[in-house]
Amino acid sequence: MSPSSLADSHQVAISPFNDQKPGTSGLRKSTKQFQTPHYLESFIEAILRVLPGVAGGTLILGGDGRYGNRSAIQVILRMAAAHGVARVITTTDGILSTPAASHLIRTTPGVVGGIILSASHNPGGPDGDFGVKLNGPNGGPAAESLTDAVYGATLSLDSYRTVAAPALDLSKPASHRLAGLAVEVVDGVSDYVSLMQRLFDFDRIADLLRSDFPIVFDALHAVTGPYATQIFEDLLGCPVGTVRNGVALEDFGGGHPDPNLTYARDLADLLLEGDAYRFGAACDGDGDRNMILGQRCFVNPSDSLAILTANAQLVPGYRDGLAGVARSMPTSAAADVVAARLNIDCFETPTGWKFFGNLLDAGRITLCGEESFGTGSNHVREKDGLWAVLFWLSILASKRCSVAELVSAHWASYGRHYYSRHDYEAIDSGKADALFDRLRGGLDRMAGQRFGTATIRLADEFSYCDPIDASVTSRQGLRILLEDGSRVIFRLSGTGTKGATLRLYLERYEPSGGNIDLDPQRALADMIQAADALADIHGTTGMDRPTVIT
Ligand code: G1P
Ligand code: ZN
Repeated sequence: MSPSSLADSHQVAISPFNDQKPGTSGLRKSTKQFQTPHYLESFIEAILRVLPGVAGGTLILGGDGRYGNRSAIQVILRMAAAHGVARVITTTDGILSTPAASHLIRTTPGVVGGIILSASHNPGGPDGDFGVKLNGPNGGPAAESLTDAVYGATLSLDSYRTVAAPALDLSKPASHRLAGLAVEVVDGVSDYVSLMQRLFDFDRIADLLRSDFPIVFDALHAVTGPYATQIFEDLLGCPVGTVRNGVALEDFGGGHPDPNLTYARDLADLLLEGDAYRFGAACDGDGDRNMILGQRCFVNPSDSLAILTANAQLVPGYRDGLAGVARSMPTSAAADVVAARLNIDCFETPTGWKFFGNLLDAGRITLCGEESFGTGSNHVREKDGLWAVLFWLSILASKRCSVAELVSAHWASYGRHYYSRHDYEAIDSGKADALFDRLRGGLDRMAGQRFGTATIRLADEFSYCDPIDASVTSRQGLRILLEDGSRVIFRLSGTGTKGATLRLYLERYEPSGGNIDLDPQRALADMIQAADALADIHGTTGMDRPTVIT
């Protein structure tokens, strides 16, 4: 730190906050909470004190464009200057998708970390949510040890350091100085788009899209709008209008930017009820999630990972084959079946992208995914929504078939995993904890009991020992494993901001491929009933149906 860089820096006295424990995706709270005095500053101060290499280092800074992003960027720039950061690279209007941020962190020399302002798929605006995500120099979500240290620092803060300076103009690429800090405003879209052009054969995809294969992409007024418009409409030659809701808005147009059948209903209706499009997709607020739809066909995210794994060699970036694959524990075992046939490793990790980081860094896996509409690869260290869309289009361009044909051929070859997730949102936290305590207390006695039409083989609480650094993460979901290979999992969300969210995951395997037309809710009906009987979800929550069924 040169003394001149700190010339205008000063301390602001604050009281410590004890509610800043980051969850699976950073610190996520209501916008209102973030607006309480010094709340944002406290968390940023903790990051700047704890992140190794901050003084003299380079930071990447951007976000999903939601309400509060622009002002938070100005706050963080002033605090970075006061902490002796040498350089901050931020983007035009602060627009930077999570996967694009990961790429920028990985490809910029001297980067010690990234701060991504997003509450992912949660609604935005003054009445919505805001969030701060910290990424490490490998481009992935900060390791638990780092986020624990940041949290620890928030508990004893009595001041933060900042400089007095006017707001910078972030509306166009430029270089600025703020005390001793160099601020570079770059275009947040172009590097990411070039990466996609290296991984995928754009000419081949463009051929498909010209051949009576109309597609539609819904950006849900969130960060992928500008990326998708450039990729689909400018580079792949799709007609203007292919990208719906493509203008990023601070409140996402009042919507809930989560690409699933509930919150991306308009898109789902276009594909599932109509015949105008052969392919549809959507991404979430910060661009890391994806939903894939075909004409009259919804692709379950667990199946999506399996299908990408099975067909990866058709895609230029993955032509040499895969080192291995990983999925989060509640994700169906569809990818396991493909991995076994390919004779590659398949790892089962706790929920949350950060658990893939070590495996990716060590070169043990190439693809990974979660049932929660997250799919990605070793090209970045975050899940990547548009990457998944381009991967699907590449496979379809190669196979020249419909989405439904690809999915049913996959089931015929590998068997079908009937799968569903039921979410009970915003339930009373005390009631949710009581439900879990009750279930946890009974796990030991469950083996041998009937569960629907099958018998429980084993019931336990998932814990994970990282194969690379041997760190152990426990209490990652209650698992009920049935003798016929079916699984039921109970988990509490780590990303909700209102009360607790109970997630119930259900899976049943049919090696023969099963019935293509059978709705998973029907295929899983006896397990759904048995899960409710076991946990008394309805009695405990007072809800007679889940908030979201996937
Ligand atoms: C949810 C998903 C999880 C994902 C996370 C961040 O977390 O279930 O797979 O990694 O969002 O996108 P949860 O709310 O279940 O803790
Ligand atoms: Zn997200």
